Amino acid sequence: MAQGVGDKFQQETKYHPNKLFGPGPDWAARPETLKEYPQAKSFKLPSPKAGARRFLDEVLRERRSVRDYSPKPVTIDQLSFLTWAADGVQREEHGCWFRTAPSAGALYPVETYLVANRVEDLAPGVYHYNVRAHALEMIRQGDFSSQVTLAALGQQMCGDAAVVFVWTAVFQRCRWKYGQRAYRYVYLDAGHIAQNLALAAVALGLGSCQIGALFDDEVNRIIEVDGIEESVLYMTCVGYPSR
Ligand SMILES: Cc1cc2nc3c(=O)[nH]c(=O)nc-3n(C[C@H](O)[C@H](O)[C@H](O)COP(=O)(O)O)c2cc1C
Repeated sequence: MAQGVGDKFQQETKYHPNKLFGPGPDWAARPETLKEYPQAKSFKLPSPKAGARRFLDEVLRERRSVRDYSPKPVTIDQLSFLTWAADGVQREEHGCWFRTAPSAGALYPVETYLVANRVEDLAPGVYHYNVRAHALEMIRQGDFSSQVTLAALGQQMCGDAAVVFVWTAVFQRCRWKYGQRAYRYVYLDAGHIAQNLALAAVALGLGSCQIGALFDDEVNRIIEVDGIEESVLYMTCVGYPSR
């Protein structure tokens, strides 16, 4: 019988019918469900409403992983639609900002960062997506195409794509309520977000590829998160297909 850390994780994070309900979470200690960089230079994105209108069945048939990208940049309107479609705010109810992607307990532990290689009217650099403001907050300016390629185990598509989406989890946001089971949920949340992005990319005539093969520490350094409280989970490259 397999006894690796993954096998133990699967067993030890199971719910059991006789011990489902503990004392419940400490509401006073409930963490924020949003991260913002108030000191950063912020770029308001245009309204994502002027997005794509395609039939869902067509988009589902066309989606595939694209690994060869043309040098053509994406526009800021396209980037606006992509960020919103992936995990933007879709409605506000009872003071909670609900998103385009579902999230266990509406806790939204996943944060979105972008490594912008080629986006019209946006300096190359590393940005954080402020969901509430639908704005990009600049973390670092510069060309990070080589660094993000190396951080993805040398996968050149990360340097060639117009933009690389990087998703992290702020673990305590979900762990606060679900304990160790939260580690299942953060990856599920990220999967929903990535699929939203993949479909949105097709709808805009763009291509994308999911990236699970990455060096956590190297990606965390690029986006300047500590790797303990917050760490990368997943990435997606987006750009114009080369053919
Ligand atoms: C969790 C996950 C991780 C992946 N990581 C990579 C990756 O690091 N590099 C890559 O080229 N493709 C990666 N892919 C893409 C898969 O290889 C691809 O989805 C699969 O071959 C099916 O092809 P399709 O996406 O064209 O339908 C990943 C996909 C998923 C869902």
